[in-house]
Amino acid sequence: MTNAVQVRNVAKRFRVFANPMDRVLEYFDPFRREYGKDFWALEDVTFDVPAGRTIGILGRNGSGKSTLLQMVCGVLQPTRGEIDVDGRIAALLELGAGFCPDLTGRENAEFFCLQNGLTKAETAARLDEIGEFADVGEFFDRPMRTYSSGMFVRVAFAASIHVDPDILVVDEALSVGDARFQHKCFQRVQQLRDAGKTIIVVTHDLTAVVRHCDHAVLLERGRVVDSGEPREVVSVYHELLATGRSDRTLTQRSQPRQDEAPPPPPAKVATGTADVPFEGRTDAVARFAECPQYHSGELRFGDGRAEFVEFAVLADGEPLSSSVPCGATVEILARVYFHDAVEHAVFGFGFFTTDGVLVYGTNTAKSHELVDHVVPGESVVVRFRVTAPLQAGAYFLNLGCNQATPDGPVALDRRHSVLQVEFESAAEFDGLVDLASEFNTVRPQTGLARSA
Ligand SMILES: Nc1ncnc2c1ncn2[C@@H]1O[C@H](COP(=O)(O)OP(=O)(O)O)[C@@H](O)[C@H]1O
Ligand SMILES: [Mg+2]
Repeated sequence: MTNAVQVRNVAKRFRVFANPMDRVLEYFDPFRREYGKDFWALEDVTFDVPAGRTIGILGRNGSGKSTLLQMVCGVLQPTRGEIDVDGRIAALLELGAGFCPDLTGRENAEFFCLQNGLTKAETAARLDEIGEFADVGEFFDRPMRTYSSGMFVRVAFAASIHVDPDILVVDEALSVGDARFQHKCFQRVQQLRDAGKTIIVVTHDLTAVVRHCDHAVLLERGRVVDSGEPREVVSVYHELLATGRSDRTLTQRSQPRQDEAPPPPPAKVATGTADVPFEGRTDAVARFAECPQYHSGELRFGDGRAEFVEFAVLADGEPLSSSVPCGATVEILARVYFHDAVEHAVFGFGFFTTDGVLVYGTNTAKSHELVDHVVPGESVVVRFRVTAPLQAGAYFLNLGCNQATPDGPVALDRRHSVLQVEFESAAEFDGLVDLASEFNTVRPQTGLARSA
C-alpha cells in the first residue's frame, strides 16, 4: 500500500519570547545575545497515512496538532525530520485561515479553488455548488466579516471539499458548525472516503473519530503517545483527559504478572459491603478469559500493583448467561488483588456504546467510599449495582482500579471494554437511555382526553 503522507522523525522548534520586542532585539543584537528561548512544539513524530485512509489526530490543547497539520500542508517547515506528501492537498486549517474577511464568500471560495489548482472554468462551475453546500443563503455574496463563525466555517469547509483534493486536511473546523451542518460534513467526509480520498482530521468529537476514522494518532506534549485502532486510542485519550497521564510505557508494562502464582483467595471484603455474596456465588465467578461476557479486544493498562482477577456478572441476582432482561438490576462483582500496599484505592466502572460514547461512569471516590491502607496480598471485592434502562444493544464495560494521589489518580489496573454486555429493552424510543416519558394528548374539539 502506498502512503499519501509520511511523517518521519519530525520535530518543530519555536523561538518564544516573553514580549514581542525581545524578538526584534534578539534579531538585531550585535553580540548575538539571547532574548528568547527554544520551545519544541513537536518532537520525533513519526507515522504514515496510507492512501485512501481516514486518520484522526487527537490530543489536548497545545499538544501540537495544528503545528503538525500546518507542516503536512507545507505552511510551516519542520525543524528536523521529513514529511512526504503524495497527492494534492486541500486544507481547512484553523477557522478559515486564508479567507479574507473583506471579500464575499463567493470571492473567497473562488480564490480558494484557484489556489488549490482548479482552472478558471472548473472554479466557475463549482461556485454555486459551494454556496449551496454552505447553505448561507444570500450571505454568500456578502463580505465574510458579516458572517457568524458558523457561517464562516461552512463556506470554508464547502470550498475545501469541492476542489477535488487527493488529501483533505481538516483542523477542528468541524466543531464550529451546528449539529446539522456537522452531520452533513461527516456525510461528505464519508463520500470522500468512499471515493478513496485520504483524510486527516483533528477533532474533539471522539464519537466521530471512532465512527469515521480508520486509524487514530494521539499527541501529548508534541509526542505520539499512542497510535492505532480508533476506539483504543480514544480510550487512552479518555484516560489522559481523566488522569493527565497516558504513558504507553505504563500501558505496556500492564500485562500484569501472568507468570506469578495465582493470588490467594480473598483475605478481606472491603468497601463497606460486608455482605458481598462473592464467595457464595462461585457459580457465577469467573476468571476473565473464561467468561462469556469477556471481550478479548479489551485495552488493559496500569502499573500492575493491583489486578482485577475474577468477577461475576449478575442480572436480578442470577448469573448472566445471555442478555440483560429489560429493567433488570445488573450487578458486577470484581475481586482486585493487591501486589503492593496502596494508601488510597479507587474503583471505577463505566458503560460505553460499542462506538465509544460514554453512557455512564462512576467510581468509589465519587460516592465517598473510602478504601484506605490496602496491604500487599490483600483482595478487595467491589460490587457495582445499577439499573440501566438502556436502548437494546451491546455495551462495553470498563473496570478500573486507581490509586488516588495528591497529583491525581495513578492507574493500577484499568480494563477498558473488558466486558461486552447485551441489554434488552421493552420500550421503543430513540437515543440511549429510556427516560420513561409519558404522553398526554387532548383534543378539545371532541371533548375527548386520552392518556397513554
Ligand atoms: N508560532 C508559534 N510560536 C511559538 N509557539 C507556538 C507557535 N505556534 C504554536 N506554538 C506552541 O506550540 C504548542 C502546540 O501548539 P498547537 O500546534 O497549536 O497545538 P494544538 O493544535 O494541539 O492545540 C503550543 O504550546 C503553542 O503555544
Ligand atoms: Mg490546534
